Amino acid sequence: MKTYYITTPIYYTSNYLHIGNTYTTVAADTIARYKKLRGYDVKFLTGTDEHGQKIERMAKEKNVEPKLFVDGIVSWIKDLWKLMDIDYDIFIRTTDELHMKGVQKIFKKLYDQGDIYKGSYEGLYCTPCESFFTERQVVDGKCPDCGRPVEKVKEESYFFKLSKYQDKLLKYIEDNPEFIQPTSRKNEMINNFLKPGLEDLCVSRTSFKWGIPVEFDPQHVVYVWMDALSNYITALGYTADDAPYKKYWPADVHLVGKEIVRFHTIIWPIMLLALGEPLPKQVFGHGWLLFDNDKMSKSKGNVIDPKVLVGLYGVDSVRYFLLREIVFGQDGNFSNEALIQRINSDLANDLGNLLSRTVGMIDKYFGGKLPQNQMPLEKDEEVKKLASHVIANIENYMEKFQFSDALGEIWTLVRRCNKYIDETSPWVLAKDETKSAELANVLYVLSEALRVISVLISPFMPNTPNAIWKQLCMEDETLRTWDSIKQFGLLAREVSISKGEVVFPRLDVEKEIEKLKSAIENTNKKVIEKEVVKEVQKEFITIDDFSKVEMKIGKVLACEKVEGSDKLLKSQIKIGNETRQIVSGIAKYYAPEEFVGKSVVVVCNLKPVKLRGVLSEGMILAASNDKGELCVITTHSNIEDGAEVR
Ligand code: MSP
Repeated sequence: MKTYYITTPIYYTSNYLHIGNTYTTVAADTIARYKKLRGYDVKFLTGTDEHGQKIERMAKEKNVEPKLFVDGIVSWIKDLWKLMDIDYDIFIRTTDELHMKGVQKIFKKLYDQGDIYKGSYEGLYCTPCESFFTERQVVDGKCPDCGRPVEKVKEESYFFKLSKYQDKLLKYIEDNPEFIQPTSRKNEMINNFLKPGLEDLCVSRTSFKWGIPVEFDPQHVVYVWMDALSNYITALGYTADDAPYKKYWPADVHLVGKEIVRFHTIIWPIMLLALGEPLPKQVFGHGWLLFDNDKMSKSKGNVIDPKVLVGLYGVDSVRYFLLREIVFGQDGNFSNEALIQRINSDLANDLGNLLSRTVGMIDKYFGGKLPQNQMPLEKDEEVKKLASHVIANIENYMEKFQFSDALGEIWTLVRRCNKYIDETSPWVLAKDETKSAELANVLYVLSEALRVISVLISPFMPNTPNAIWKQLCMEDETLRTWDSIKQFGLLAREVSISKGEVVFPRLDVEKEIEKLKSAIENTNKKVIEKEVVKEVQKEFITIDDFSKVEMKIGKVLACEKVEGSDKLLKSQIKIGNETRQIVSGIAKYYAPEEFVGKSVVVVCNLKPVKLRGVLSEGMILAASNDKGELCVITTHSNIEDGAEVR
């Protein structure tokens, strides 16, 4: 199996992420899902960049230890990725032991071979960007990248000999035109940085402590960019033996925002050249997501919290919007109006309608199941041809990460299908009994086209395909593969349907824009800052707090699915002398019959609630991990039900 290794930048844990950072991760997730669908053995890495002066200062301001401070943000970020359906394979934290040890080894190796040497640094530093500048580079005393004031720094430092490798790097970039993409960013790197000549880079700091200590000189901590960039190989166990490193390195692509292309195409490849390791095959620098044509930033108060958007419109709508609206590689604009328009026109009107019309007509005209007897029409050929044409074009676009074009292609098929409905007028065919075979054929072609569409959209929108498969009763997983959609007509002729909810309800544009605007404004009112403190401080509870929770062992007597929900199970649990009904969100992990007989831990003094109209008198404890796996906590000896858990 061919391997494919893709990475996102690791995110600073100085604050919560906004829709701009989310954009990089959604793009990477889409590529990873696409490559998995195409049969690659994919490793998708993301994580957090947790060291440095900025984070140390933020933690000090909040009066907490830096580690405690970053822990709160990291758990928020992991929740965000869960919410956005980010299916990463590895989440690296730069505070992980394996990473820290790896960085120390890398630093030592470079020092031992003479590529790192001790000196003294005097210059300017932008703390928010964690970046060094010379007098010549700053603009009116401000950082040329972010425009904030720079600080004077003078301290003993280790230096990395970037200059020694610059010719080798220049040659590599020129010999490998795919290495820096898009091409405009390559030219910028060559003309603005490499050709004028590189200065050696300061790679350690002594004026603060929050970083990885240099092993042989612990007064120094490793410069945060050298620490952070190493994550791409330490995450694979670069310094450990027999590591996935051998299998997955070099990376197929590092996705990064345009302002950090410089670090990834100059410092990072030179580190690798010095280590004697292969360079990544590509660094792709995408543009920025602007808000009403302005750069998003916390200080301007114009950031958008992805959790707010997903809460209002669902994850697939948000992912679709980001990937469709913005040309990957260029800057693009986020506006409330554009989001609502896209949801209404592309998702509700085009795709949502196609599904509900198809399912609705199979229900209405054939009682929910198509007959075997079907008569093909000439018009079918156009739909079939377009489907295969679209698949080929998408394969092309996805190689170049042209998500917007790829989605545009899918939507030509969606719209063609809606047009096919208008052209064949099933409601007219339905009036004439002799046209029944034609009518059945039309609905078959639409169902089959929806199958193709569902697979095509799956890397972009991970949830909608499930809704389509459910409504078309497409249980056979072999019909959900990329190869299968290249053959039009694999779906069994007698399509059955199971009517479900509308996948994308139509929105009232004006009302929705107002709602969205005030939701965004509310979250921007510094709620963010307050939450950091809250999350950090809620670390400890007292024994009195803990003893308020009454937990007992319960035995599952009976269990069944909650009607209308694919997540909930309803169990009858015996706890000593009483039996209670408890509803839990575990249906994806346990079949009802498998659950019966288990001894579980029940929180008994929770206020009863109704879930989907079903009474739940307590909660069953379960453990879940970042990969979305879950297991119910059970006992391993024969302790009887009713026993207290303390
Ligand atoms: N920690 C460094 C990266 C180290 S990688 C070895 C960093 N972190 S960051 O959190 O500031 O940014 C992470 C990513 O988010 C970058 O790729 C950055 O370009 C991206 N974005 C931040 N704001 C953005 C927008 N408004 N729009 C698009 N991407 C943006 O840099």
